[in-house]
Amino acid sequence: MKTLQVELNERSYPIYIGQGLLDRAELLTNHISGQQVMIVTNEMIAPLYLGKIRQGLKSYQCESIILPDGEQYKTLEVLNKIFDALLANRFDRSATLIALGGGVIGDTAGFAAACYQRGVPFIQVPTTLLAQVDSSVGGKTGVNHPLGKNMIGAFYQPRCVIADTEVLKTLDNRQLYAGIAEVIKYGLIRDQTFFEWLESNIDALLQRDAAALTYVIEQSCINKAEIVAADEKEGGIRALLNLGHTFGHAIETGLGYGSWLHGEAVAAGMCLAAELSHRLDWLSAQDVMRIVALVRRARLPHQVPAELSGERLLELMAVDKKVKSGKLRLILLKSIGQGVICEDIDANMILASIEASRSCP
Ligand SMILES: NC(=O)c1ccc[n+]([C@@H]2O[C@H](COP(=O)([O-])OP(=O)(O)OC[C@H]3O[C@@H](n4cnc5c(N)ncnc54)[C@H](O)[C@@H]3O)[C@@H](O)[C@H]2O)c1
Ligand SMILES: [Zn+2]
Repeated sequence: MKTLQVELNERSYPIYIGQGLLDRAELLTNHISGQQVMIVTNEMIAPLYLGKIRQGLKSYQCESIILPDGEQYKTLEVLNKIFDALLANRFDRSATLIALGGGVIGDTAGFAAACYQRGVPFIQVPTTLLAQVDSSVGGKTGVNHPLGKNMIGAFYQPRCVIADTEVLKTLDNRQLYAGIAEVIKYGLIRDQTFFEWLESNIDALLQRDAAALTYVIEQSCINKAEIVAADEKEGGIRALLNLGHTFGHAIETGLGYGSWLHGEAVAAGMCLAAELSHRLDWLSAQDVMRIVALVRRARLPHQVPAELSGERLLELMAVDKKVKSGKLRLILLKSIGQGVICEDIDANMILASIEASRSCP
């Protein structure tokens, strides 16, 4: 097992990465202080892993709530169901929430923990690659609003993150590939060596080679933990993690939540950011091609969906929270391994990049 640390003074916490960690109950119980535990999970994951987690928590008052599965259920209504369950079971401020699932469960349960009785402890047990490499670390929690993704939420850090690589065996391929989008993101914004490693090892990763998966989770968490430690509430460099996301969120909202996966939308968004960076004379045409090639090898979309016009995408991007005082804020690339935060990018240049990316082979 590898242990990494997210350094945030009194809110510091460990990330455990390894095979078979769900069988090691002490990893959970060492971070539970009260007697009451609520496991938040969904219909897909409960039959697979809920029993295993409950097994190790027999000496606690342990309850679970099983939510419907899908991005379309990352809503205030579903959040309220968690509060109903907590109150119905008379859970008090010493209760601990455990988020057992992918990013949807992690974001929703984390936000429930942030709000319930003004904040109760919570633990992340991420079960998708995307959640293990990204969403379970860093404390961004929240739910969607029909007008915009992740619009209602809080920064709220977990007590620990338990990433068991074993659970990825039941994940379907499309979900695995979606997770790789966020992995590629770390290489692009700050880790050229990691990007090159991915170029050489993407096939092993797609074949779920255990060593490759573990390496990728570790490297991703190291990158994310460093960024979060430097800028917990996104006053500065944490915004780099949004590479591809302003475009990506517009795609997700525009198509309806759950149509394209988050990672798929981010992949197309990163290719668009690469194209735009090339138009600003930062990224070479050859580097744009390298990025598109890696995205395609990871079986991810490199073009925005045909049914969304450039104008519609721009309109949707204006709702995204990365708009700061009326200016559209985008993450672009100076080179592979060097992301930059840009404000005031000309809308026509964005439109031209969208059109260019549509005709990209
Ligand atoms: N908080 C953050 O910093 C952050 C970062 C990135 C993404 N996100 C959010 O994360 C969400 C996407 O997360 P996701 O990609 O994990 O999607 P998800 O939570 O919807 O999970 C994907 C699918 O896989 C299933 N699943 C999960 N674990 C499984 C397993 N081990 N075996 C079989 N099936 C399994 C789920 O039930 C679901 O159907 C989005 O809402 C996105 O906004 C948040
Ligand atoms: Zn993301």
